[in-house]
Amino acid sequence: MTTEPLAGPLTIGVEAYISEEYARAERDKLWAKVWQQVGRVEEISKVGDFLTYEILDDSVIVVRTAPDTIRAYYNVCSHRGRRLVDTPPGAHDARGRGRQFVCGFHGWRYSIDGECTHVPEREDWPCGLTAESTGLKKVRVDTWGGWIWINMDPGCEPLRDYLEPAASLLDPFHLENMRYRWRRWLVFDCNWKTALEAFMETYHVPYTHPEFMPFGGFLGWAKAQGKHSNIGYDAPKGMDENKAKLRIGTGSDPRVSTADLQNFTWENANTNTTWTLVEAAQRLVDELPEGTPADQVLRHWLTAAREHDAERGVVWPTVDPEIVGKSGTAWQVFPNFQIGHALNNMLCYSARPYGYDPDKCVFEAAVYELFPEGEEPETEWIFTPEDDPDWRTVLPQDFANMAAVQKGMKARGFSGPKPNPYRERSIASLHHNLARYMGTGAPRDLA
Ligand code: FES
Ligand SMILES: [Fe+2]
Repeated sequence: MTTEPLAGPLTIGVEAYISEEYARAERDKLWAKVWQQVGRVEEISKVGDFLTYEILDDSVIVVRTAPDTIRAYYNVCSHRGRRLVDTPPGAHDARGRGRQFVCGFHGWRYSIDGECTHVPEREDWPCGLTAESTGLKKVRVDTWGGWIWINMDPGCEPLRDYLEPAASLLDPFHLENMRYRWRRWLVFDCNWKTALEAFMETYHVPYTHPEFMPFGGFLGWAKAQGKHSNIGYDAPKGMDENKAKLRIGTGSDPRVSTADLQNFTWENANTNTTWTLVEAAQRLVDELPEGTPADQVLRHWLTAAREHDAERGVVWPTVDPEIVGKSGTAWQVFPNFQIGHALNNMLCYSARPYGYDPDKCVFEAAVYELFPEGEEPETEWIFTPEDDPDWRTVLPQDFANMAAVQKGMKARGFSGPKPNPYRERSIASLHHNLARYMGTGAPRDLA
């Protein structure tokens, strides 16, 4: 008997994925209540820098109002409700820098502190316009991990409390020091949960990504962690670090298989590694004798890469191997953000509804890395359709399941998802927690 939560065999209804009524209910019951990641702190580094975030009918402006203060407002003019800042057609969001927002309809102006500072012909409302009725309406905003998070519920719990235990287990990785290497977005023909769930488990790896199998085992565990969940690789006792993203290949010669795995990942996914790690892996055969045991290969590789990075001013955090093991490879932050962390890089995904069509979602993928100060690349969100070769070969294998799952879930012959209780518990956890917000859709015993 296990005492871990959600460890039993469970099944989930398909309503959360395919029902338009459920998708509409998410607006008030879910999206209006949860903390949502909307961008990086460094994207609005100067006073007056702003960006917008859209979720269904709401748009939020996030703006830096002082060197150490970020505020968020609903992106709507209080006069007659025009969207205050427009997102250019086809753009991911609107962004810019300024000291005020001016509504294009009748010229009402707002300071970055949210006050209405100018109303043309104000005297036509004798005593009728108060700061309260004209100011921009605030949205809760906070930062953690280098990200900006918003919450539309004025009575919500503090971000830090909401994020636990993910925040405490990830703090030692200092994710706030990472910067984008690349970021892409697109619209998928599936529900936002279907898209995220494609990345929440390792059960699919041997079958969706068979070319990884010669490099070793990629199967792992999934744990419910309160509102959130995390996943990690299975690793032998004494090799806690190998539960993490930076791991060795397990062929007959781990020096060679580690280099092969790194080269393959760099070429075909451009995720989960850095050039420093690839190069350090390529040197393993020269630096270590044949027959070096796997745990020593792992330690040598990571130490060499860490030292090489330190020489160019990139200092990896030192994280207790036990924390590395416990934190695993990725966290699913409720409801729609995945952080795939490592010591010097990370891969994150988010997905959210695209209108009220349960069969569509906006999906974002971003790779981050530790760069020497001043050498961070300039990046922006690049709209990249599913069949664009810039996705390379690995991620499209995951994408290929999404619309097909979405279609299959509508089939009369399908009785509901049955996540693997060990490897896919993160999916049961998502629906367990969604049900607490939505009032429906809790996983049931699979009997
Ligand atoms: S709607 Fe903005 S000024 Fe009229
Ligand atoms: Fe995958």
